[in-house]
Amino acid sequence: MDAMDVILTRRSVRKYTDKELSDERIKELIDAAVSAPSAGNQQLWRFIIIDDLEKISKIQSFHPNAKFLHEAKKVILICGDLSLEKFKNYWVLDCSAATQNMLLAARALGLGSCWLGVYPREDRIENLKKLFDLPESVIPFSLVALGYTSEKQEKVDRYKEENVHYNKW
Ligand SMILES: Cc1cc2nc3c(=O)[nH]c(=O)nc-3n(C[C@H](O)[C@H](O)[C@H](O)COP(=O)(O)O)c2cc1C
Repeated sequence: MDAMDVILTRRSVRKYTDKELSDERIKELIDAAVSAPSAGNQQLWRFIIIDDLEKISKIQSFHPNAKFLHEAKKVILICGDLSLEKFKNYWVLDCSAATQNMLLAARALGLGSCWLGVYPREDRIENLKKLFDLPESVIPFSLVALGYTSEKQEKVDRYKEENVHYNKW
C-alpha cells in the first residue's frame, strides 16, 4: 500500500480477529509513533502496552466509549511526561501526532486500530493515572486499540470544496 492509500483508507476499527499481535509488530508501531514530529524535538511521549484483561475491564468501567476494548489484542496507552517539557502545552500536539502515526502504521501493517480519547477528560486522566500508577509528571493522553481485523477499511469522501479557502476566508 502506498502512503496515500494508507492515509485515505484508515478507519476506526472496533472488531478484531483472534490472531495474536507479535512483540515485533508492537515495536514497529511504537517506532512509527516516535517518528512523529515534536515541538523542539522534545519527544516526551511514553507508552504502556496493555493486554491484561483485568486492567482492560477496569478501563471499561470508567471509559464510556470503550465497550469493544476487551476484543483488542493489545491496547497502547500513550502518555506525555511533562517533566521533559521544553515548550509549554505543546505536549498535546506531540502526543496527537504520535497517536496518528501509530494508527497509520497499523493500517500499513494490515491491522485495525481505534483511538480512544483520554486527554483532556479529567476523570479518565485521574482513573488511568491510578490504574497504572503513573508518576505525577506523566499524563495519559490517548488509548489505541489494536488487532487484526476482517473488517474492510475503505476511503470515506470528506473533501468539501466549501471548507477550503484561498488567501482569505
Ligand atoms: C480524540 C479522539 C477521541 C476518540 N475517542 C473515541 C472513543 O473513545 N471510542 C471510540 O470508539 N472511538 C473514538 N474515536 C474515533 C472516532 O469516533 C472516529 O475517528 C470518527 O468517528 C471518524 O471515523 P474514522 O476514524 O473511521 O475515520 C476518537 C477519535 C479521536 C480523534
